[in-house]
Amino acid sequence: MARILVTRAIPGPALAQLAQAGHAVTILPGELPPDRDTLLAAVAEADGLLCMLTERVDAELLAAAPKLRAVSNYAVGTDNIDLGAVAARGIPVGNTPDVLTDATADLALALLLAVARRLPEAERAVREGTWTAWRASGWLGLELRGARLAIVGAGRIGRATGERAAAFGMVVENVGRRDNLHAALARADAVSLHVPLTDATQHLMDARAFAAMRPGAILVNTARGGIVDQAALAAALHSGQLGGAGLDVMTPEPLPTDDPLLAAPNLLVVPHIGSATHRAREAMTRLAVKNLLAALAGEQMPHQVGA
Ligand code: GLV
Ligand code: GLV
Repeated sequence: MARILVTRAIPGPALAQLAQAGHAVTILPGELPPDRDTLLAAVAEADGLLCMLTERVDAELLAAAPKLRAVSNYAVGTDNIDLGAVAARGIPVGNTPDVLTDATADLALALLLAVARRLPEAERAVREGTWTAWRASGWLGLELRGARLAIVGAGRIGRATGERAAAFGMVVENVGRRDNLHAALARADAVSLHVPLTDATQHLMDARAFAAMRPGAILVNTARGGIVDQAALAAALHSGQLGGAGLDVMTPEPLPTDDPLLAAPNLLVVPHIGSATHRAREAMTRLAVKNLLAALAGEQMPHQVGA
């Protein structure tokens, strides 16, 4: 029997398997991230941790968790985890790839279509009563057929987004680590970000990158907020250098309602919902539980980061 800390309840029946396997399971109450002190106290006796991307797993947390021998992240991204510090303790880290690929790619396309067709402004016009008549030149946007989409980071989610875009008739260009990013940006009508957040990708999209983009091009980010220099993005939207942006991720999360970014034109922001479908979230629970049970049994996790 191991002691398991789950940082809050997650969707689907698979969570119950932890207790069914004979472990002592503590699930922190509520839907919100635990405050730091609560988390550090709760992890003191834990052998296994099942956490969300909102929990920082770093040297401080590891010091508070002397018995910890497995970390299962309820996410595909692991930038909330100090992988070096965890590896130094010999603790395996699991994540939840594949099962959220379609959900996240669907959202990337939803953001792209919404921004390309200016849905945020158009919808607001209906609600605010500024829709005065059908207008021949009102809310003109970008048609996807024949437009060029740069997929920055062509891993699982990037490729799935590219497949969807191709079905709309877009010309898709995958941009990998070894490719010339700025040259690809200069060719693209729209750019969708799918790289993990690392030291190398922090502010990959900065003022120089936005200046390299085609005037009026669209940015979509369903990866991590830290990849984008948000002040530079806001400036590029205000100046009209960018035609619009659709963001599922930003810095910080939640974004304060008075953040200057929100004053930018043709910006659609949603609250980090890339994997938020019933199917994806329940499958993520199954994977996160499998990863944790395997590690606690002394086996390799089915999805072990870096293995
Ligand atoms: C969500 O952002 C994830 O990494 O799963
Ligand atoms: C538009 O609504 C059209 O009928 O052309």
